[in-house]
Amino acid sequence: MVTIGDKIFEIFLTDDEILQETTSLGKQLSADYEEKDIVFIAVLNGAFMFAADLMKNISIPAEISFVKVSSYTGLTNSEEVKELIGLNTKIEGKHVVLIEDIVDTGNTIDKLLISLEKENPLSVKVCTLLYKPEAFKGIHKPDYVGFSIPNAFVVGYGLDYNELGRNLKAIYQLKKEE
Ligand code: IMP
Repeated sequence: MVTIGDKIFEIFLTDDEILQETTSLGKQLSADYEEKDIVFIAVLNGAFMFAADLMKNISIPAEISFVKVSSYTGLTNSEEVKELIGLNTKIEGKHVVLIEDIVDTGNTIDKLLISLEKENPLSVKVCTLLYKPEAFKGIHKPDYVGFSIPNAFVVGYGLDYNELGRNLKAIYQLKKEE
């Protein structure tokens, strides 16, 4: 168990389980994109650790780039607007794989896909380490999924709780109240 801020978390996925899955995803992507012009785009901050381990298992020539999502509230309504920032790689005419740490409601990837499509890539797919199917209400389901998980808060391996816990090697789940 680990304590982060005011919350207690218990082990959910060990570092061995994560690395095994990351290796298998890397092999699958390398096979699917063989002979193709591919750019991996990792979404910071959360995906930094997953992207590093995934890329070590990519055995084909590939570019990697990093983006961030800025969130702000629109002036005319209360809906949160998410905007892609930092894309400095040309993706026109290339295959893109977006690397995410977690897909929850799907809002983030839907917005990112709209922004990326404007740059005329040949294709865009999403590879996420974690996916919460029960929380998902988006349009584009992730194409490559490491683990489908229940709808509970997780931390570690890049994922944070109030910016803490990203450095943990394993993934922990919020401990249920007893
Ligand atoms: P979505 O737009 O609802 O799919 O949420 C995606 C973002 O929410 C992720 O990139 C994370 O930053 C954050 N998030 C969603 N669920 C969790 C969680 O269980 N732990 C930590 N961050 C989460």
